[in-house]
Amino acid sequence: MTQDQVTPLRWHGEVLEVLDQRLLPAEEVWHAYSDAEGVYRAIHEMQVRGAPAIGIAAAYGVVLAARGYAEAPDWYSRLGATMDWLAQARPTAVNLVWALERMRGCLGQVADSADLVAMLEAEALAIHREDAEANRAMGVLGADRILAEREGPAQVLTHCNTGALATGGQGTALGVVRELFRRGSLACVHMDETRPWLQGARLTAWECEREGMPCSLNVDGAAATLMAQGKVDWVVVGADRITANGDVANKIGTLPLAILARHYGVGMMVVAPSSTLDTETPSGDRIEIEERDGTELRRSGRRWLAPNSVAVFNPVFDVTPASLVDVIVTEKGICEAPGNQVTPLDSLT
Ligand code: MRU
Repeated sequence: MTQDQVTPLRWHGEVLEVLDQRLLPAEEVWHAYSDAEGVYRAIHEMQVRGAPAIGIAAAYGVVLAARGYAEAPDWYSRLGATMDWLAQARPTAVNLVWALERMRGCLGQVADSADLVAMLEAEALAIHREDAEANRAMGVLGADRILAEREGPAQVLTHCNTGALATGGQGTALGVVRELFRRGSLACVHMDETRPWLQGARLTAWECEREGMPCSLNVDGAAATLMAQGKVDWVVVGADRITANGDVANKIGTLPLAILARHYGVGMMVVAPSSTLDTETPSGDRIEIEERDGTELRRSGRRWLAPNSVAVFNPVFDVTPASLVDVIVTEKGICEAPGNQVTPLDSLT
């Protein structure tokens, strides 16, 4: 991949290629899938990850399924069942369900399975393209908001990977960081390594380094020290689901950052496309939080990091209450202090 071509997915019409993010940055391996089963596995096993990217991958998975069922008499019901099943690949990111619902919307519009394949493909491509456009708009809005309050370049801290690898474009939170960098207004992006999958160390550091951004990697536990030393002006993170009251589900470790940010007077910005807003769920305590296998903590590759029988608590996401968030940025605008409901969130859907 060249510098400006970081992408997690390549669509070739009859095949979806998925970059295996589990192997980055050591190896760049692409897997080709020609059916929905393969795409389900790629999402479930985290070859592709990041809320918008898994929604886009699932949309292409529906196209592959439709092509496979085109000759079957029961193509309509099989396709519906495949969409229900794909939605279960990972439970927390609402973008997955959102993208599948958009694809489902095509089902009622045509009677013929051949027309449907063309329509579904156009819809998947639109979902992909619109995500890239949303990324660009959020980058501008988020950077404007950060620079509105300061003279010099900004120091930011980010968590997990919210960049090109997690989306259809330049990224959500990392899109804001990219925009600051383009304007010459990025002093440093501090990157939490993000245990246990190390998306910050393996993916964000890889994306930032290859573009020559001023960046620095830290263990998750160093965030407090960075803030205490005055090295962070804003925490800038993405989201997997934002509920009607402004609560934010994001990668485990986001909630402690929000608590620290409030303690040290640092801004807390959440950047997510409107497809991440779930206004049907009233509050964060109703979000299903994915828990993954304890082996992810006990072992790194073949090396044991902990006794192999120790009990493990391994939630993948946490929920930050709206009251700890200063700003939510979507492509449609900015919601200040979502906890106070000054700007109603549904004005951004
Ligand atoms: O488990 P992951 O790597 O899919 O988690 C990703 C995150 O939590 C991101 O912060 C979120 O999806 C926003 S990405 C634009």
